[in-house]
Amino acid sequence: MDIKTGQMEGARESAKFHEMKEGTAEDWAIISKHYMEFASDLPDRVLTHLKLLEGDFGGFPVCRLEHSLQTATRAHRDGRGERYVVMALLHDIGDTLGTYNHPDVAAAIIKPFVTEEEHWICQHHGAFQGYYFFHHLGMDRNVRDSFRNEPHFDACAEFCEKYDQAAFDPNYDSEPLEFFEPMVRRVLAKPLSSMYVNED
Ligand SMILES: [Fe+2]
Ligand SMILES: [Fe+2]
Repeated sequence: MDIKTGQMEGARESAKFHEMKEGTAEDWAIISKHYMEFASDLPDRVLTHLKLLEGDFGGFPVCRLEHSLQTATRAHRDGRGERYVVMALLHDIGDTLGTYNHPDVAAAIIKPFVTEEEHWICQHHGAFQGYYFFHHLGMDRNVRDSFRNEPHFDACAEFCEKYDQAAFDPNYDSEPLEFFEPMVRRVLAKPLSSMYVNED
């Protein structure tokens, strides 16, 4: 049998049910095995999607991939931990599909793998980045103030000030994506929490 495809003598290994309510433990043993194999490829899928940002400038001085690398490099060189750096690397990965809410996309992807604070930073960085440009577009640059009483306000403001808003320098010597790949693979290897994976 081909472990990767589940192909066995021309037949595909699959559950027998046509409606979930007919499912058996045997069915779910098969599905669980496939799920774990699929989950192990998550880092590759994420890295492949991140590469879609390459060459996408959108009027900015650097492309969205370089911005991501530069944000992560600045965080890494500032001594941030691996989960934080991966959050920094992936914080704009939602730009391709989340045109009107890109922080939500990245936050959802990284949520099982990072701390609550790192997730909050990622999810809210859009509003906090607005401090640096909303006023140029006739909007309220202080929209982040609605989160002033949140416990992670300062952490998110610091992420934007030190790393995100600062990562548009075409002359900065960002590390290449290959530098961050081992970190992505380690961080996304096992969720800290997920309702689909039990402790064992
Ligand atoms: Fe962003
Ligand atoms: Fe960004």
